Amino acid sequence: MINEHMPFIWYGGDYNPDQWDEKTIEEDMRLFKKAGINLVTLPVFSWAKLEPSEGVYNFEWLDEIMDKLWENGIHVCMATPTTAQPAWLSKKYPEVLPVDIAGRKRTHGMRVFFCVNSEKYRERAAAIAEEMAKRYKDHPALAAWHVANEYGTYCYCENCQRKFRIWLKERYKTIENLNEKWNTAFWGRIVYDFDEIMLPTELNDDYRFNPAIQLDYMRFVTASTKECFENEASVLRRYTPDIPVFSNISGYIKKLDQFTLTENMDCAGWDNYPTPGDPVSIPALKHDIMRALKDGKPYIITEQSPNQQNWQPYNKLKRPGEVRALAYQGIARGGDACLFFQMRQSIGGQEKFHGAVISHAGREDTRIFREISDLGAELGRLGDICLDGRTDAKVGFLFDWDNWWALELTSGPTKDMDYLAQVHKYYKAFYEKNIQTDILKVTSDFSKYKIIVAPLLYMMKEGLAEKLESFVENGGILAATYMTGLADENDRCIFGAYPGKLRKLMGLWVEETDALFPEERNSIIIRKKTKHLKGVYSSGFLCDILHPETAEVIGEYGKDFYEGTPCVTKNVYGKGAAYYLGTEPDEEFLEDFVTEICEEAGVHPLLESEGRVEICARENQKGQVIFLINHEQEPAFVKLGADTYENLLTGKTINGTLQLNSKDVAVLKKR
Ligand code: GLA
Ligand code: ZN
Repeated sequence: MINEHMPFIWYGGDYNPDQWDEKTIEEDMRLFKKAGINLVTLPVFSWAKLEPSEGVYNFEWLDEIMDKLWENGIHVCMATPTTAQPAWLSKKYPEVLPVDIAGRKRTHGMRVFFCVNSEKYRERAAAIAEEMAKRYKDHPALAAWHVANEYGTYCYCENCQRKFRIWLKERYKTIENLNEKWNTAFWGRIVYDFDEIMLPTELNDDYRFNPAIQLDYMRFVTASTKECFENEASVLRRYTPDIPVFSNISGYIKKLDQFTLTENMDCAGWDNYPTPGDPVSIPALKHDIMRALKDGKPYIITEQSPNQQNWQPYNKLKRPGEVRALAYQGIARGGDACLFFQMRQSIGGQEKFHGAVISHAGREDTRIFREISDLGAELGRLGDICLDGRTDAKVGFLFDWDNWWALELTSGPTKDMDYLAQVHKYYKAFYEKNIQTDILKVTSDFSKYKIIVAPLLYMMKEGLAEKLESFVENGGILAATYMTGLADENDRCIFGAYPGKLRKLMGLWVEETDALFPEERNSIIIRKKTKHLKGVYSSGFLCDILHPETAEVIGEYGKDFYEGTPCVTKNVYGKGAAYYLGTEPDEEFLEDFVTEICEEAGVHPLLESEGRVEICARENQKGQVIFLINHEQEPAFVKLGADTYENLLTGKTINGTLQLNSKDVAVLKKR
């Protein structure tokens, strides 16, 4: 459980009482209670108000709010306000301001706009964190510590450069080793001293800056940001060892390796802002990634929008029922907290038109307030029924930040390389069949899975090939794709034909890879019909020209000079099998392929359905709870088989077939 003393789903969100007068705050308390709010996050951006000048603190207003919230039965997820340093701090210590990739020293004014390596920043951040910890350590409202907000600044200042060199020295020990690992002999980039190493800025070069350096810089920024988190977390933990400490992750997750960043967090927390028009499998995938950060433990949905956003190109209103459906999606996939940005819509500033629980109208008779209140009441009734529940998936998706970065930093074979989009493509095929999936780190235990999908596993980390081999040897099914096994952890290519260390397991070698124009297609002609794979499918993006060694050919290319050569293969290996997809297949292929391998592995959806409906389950000591969510416009029908269930949201007993209308949700417990 995220906090043992709070055995219910956390419901509420970001609240900025420093923007409001007393009367408004009183009204907020009334409305919060009405909406079933049990927790608010504050004071995320209030550093300037809390510390008007260095070492002078002004906490009285916050004390009052804390007491008032607690009197009204509302907990506080307490943020250190260190994401937005005060102007005086930037002015007095300009070193805290970042330098951008073009070498420009930036001015004060933005949030999340500080150098994570600045000693002064860290000193002042730790000081205010300590002040807060001392002050609120025994406050009964304190539920969790939320450090800063959405880390993610890349800085290119001299201090970062200095620290990068130190970091590299620790990593590579000698300059000779670094030269070898970075392959600096290419384009004459040999360095003789760590002091000669420059940050990978735009000014230094164009897109062909050595990707190995860029890759290490991204690792370094993650390591520096992690230190920055720990700088505050260690202070907070000294005062409140039992209160969980974490930092919320931006929904845009590429910049920092979240597996590494969250290692020392007590739980994961993330901000879910799907782009209007995105398929719902995108937030589903991101939820699964978040659940993986702490190896399946519940996480906090720290933010989502109760209505439209203001910063999307087109800010669609959330349709009636959409907030509820998306909220349940998060809970169904492992979230134990359902929080919103923001509780009350601000009068001015950047996000004055961003949706809020209480809008500018300030009324309770709005659609959104009603929807939020209904959801609050419903979640209140669910209590702890699914709390701390785990997901029992039999399919794992390998996901890795270093792989993501290296793959996209690499020049060639196509400019359209988008790891997340590629992972999503394969993920969606399982999502649409309601096959539950876990996201796996390369270090995860693979043994409980029946299928592992490893899309574009470009970087083969030490020991991974052996792990995958033994997974398949023991009966697992592995599905790998083009762009597999090309490079090592330093982005140096592997000799002896791709997929390198996976060559034996895949039973083939790849000679060349053709990049297709966006509109260009090839086809996969099934040569060896299986139960579900037959006929002709379309393919695109990349085409590997490959040579099976022990693998059998399932599909061949339908055209071009490699027409008739293999593109989809299967290699029986030990008790299992490894599939290789040498080209990006269309959705029809993936649908049949997923059916095929799931049947082979004996993996089934939780329940059968007609029409599109998301089905997931969580299990805790109280047993299993199944969530059914219809995100679509059309009704869907879920077949409950011979079992009888209670729909916990309506209290009704149900069996047979359950009709779920557009945007409706059911939460089932077996009778
Ligand atoms: C982010 C931030 C919030 C707020 C929202 C608005 O996730 O963390 O402070 O700006 O976006 O969408
Ligand atoms: Zn810096």
